[in-house]
Amino acid sequence: MSRNGKEAIGILTGGGDCPGLNAVIRAVVRRAYMLGYETMGIKNGWLGLVKGTVEPLDLMKVSGILPRGGTILGTSRTNPLKDENDKKALIENMKKLGLDSLIAIGGEDTLGVARSLAKEGFKVVGVPKTIDNDVEGTDQTFGFDTAVSIVTEAIDRLHTTAESHQRVMVVEVMGRHTGWIAVVGGLAGGADCILIPERPMNIDEICKILAKRHSRGRLFSIVVVAEGFKLDGFEQLVTKDQKLDQFGHVHLGGIGEVIADEIEKRTGYETRVTVLGHVQRGGSPTAFDRVLGTRYGVKAVDLIHEGKVGSMVCLKGNKITDIPLSEAMTKLKFVDPELLQTAEIFYG
Ligand code: F6P
Repeated sequence: MSRNGKEAIGILTGGGDCPGLNAVIRAVVRRAYMLGYETMGIKNGWLGLVKGTVEPLDLMKVSGILPRGGTILGTSRTNPLKDENDKKALIENMKKLGLDSLIAIGGEDTLGVARSLAKEGFKVVGVPKTIDNDVEGTDQTFGFDTAVSIVTEAIDRLHTTAESHQRVMVVEVMGRHTGWIAVVGGLAGGADCILIPERPMNIDEICKILAKRHSRGRLFSIVVVAEGFKLDGFEQLVTKDQKLDQFGHVHLGGIGEVIADEIEKRTGYETRVTVLGHVQRGGSPTAFDRVLGTRYGVKAVDLIHEGKVGSMVCLKGNKITDIPLSEAMTKLKFVDPELLQTAEIFYG
């Protein structure tokens, strides 16, 4: 219960940021206000609950944030369940700050923590977020559509320079465990070959695809590779360094360079690499992500109001609905094989 005698909903954003987070925050605050709740913004993901850093969010605080990228609350990859002391601090702070319930906006890691807390009886509702679109239980996460539109525009731009110089352009995109961004962005941009974690390929197969294209007179090509792609025959994932985050993830990056070197060595085609990196996560959300984020935010508050906690909001077809957090976080959502088959029709 907050100091005003109203029930208080805590809200946090965890993991990698993505466009549309502010749309969710705004919708939560507006809907909560309408239903008579106070909203408390928790700073920097789970870290804010461990440290007890929160600020009340009123209508003024969320005014004008709908088109803004990032998150006004800040984010972190803190795992509060890794250390017993952090977990204790989090539970004490929930009580001390008078938070009756919690809305956790995040991907597999943030929602994994939410699921564990829900199991222990905390009133938690999850909102699925990630540009990677790999959260099981929802047809789409917000942020993905914006990332895909950025990748598509980049591929369009790379096409014209690739054609002028008769080069192979390798585009490295995000996608740690799954290749959703690569496949959907690649399909939209007309990629000639798409490499994703779900479908290991060896370098000969890749070069064959490019040679086929050359043999029909197209002397330039676009290869899209997800950062989590593993080249068949190579021992490991390509990483920037060996550091792990609190959820045990390595810092991926560099597979584009490896592929490009191999292609040039084997085919003799001049090859260049573009790593899109965090550009895919920055900036203003698309209309789709603003609307999806808004609908998720409203639904999350409604679930708390109805007492349907321990759940995650989700998109099924065109409808916003919910599923138990326990069902959502059991596995990752991999690229639909049918979608990949469609993309493969355009290889070479
Ligand atoms: O979690 C989404 C994601 O975009 C992954 O695809 C990527 O590996 C990761 O974020 C990189 O995030 P950061 O550089 O913030 O650790």
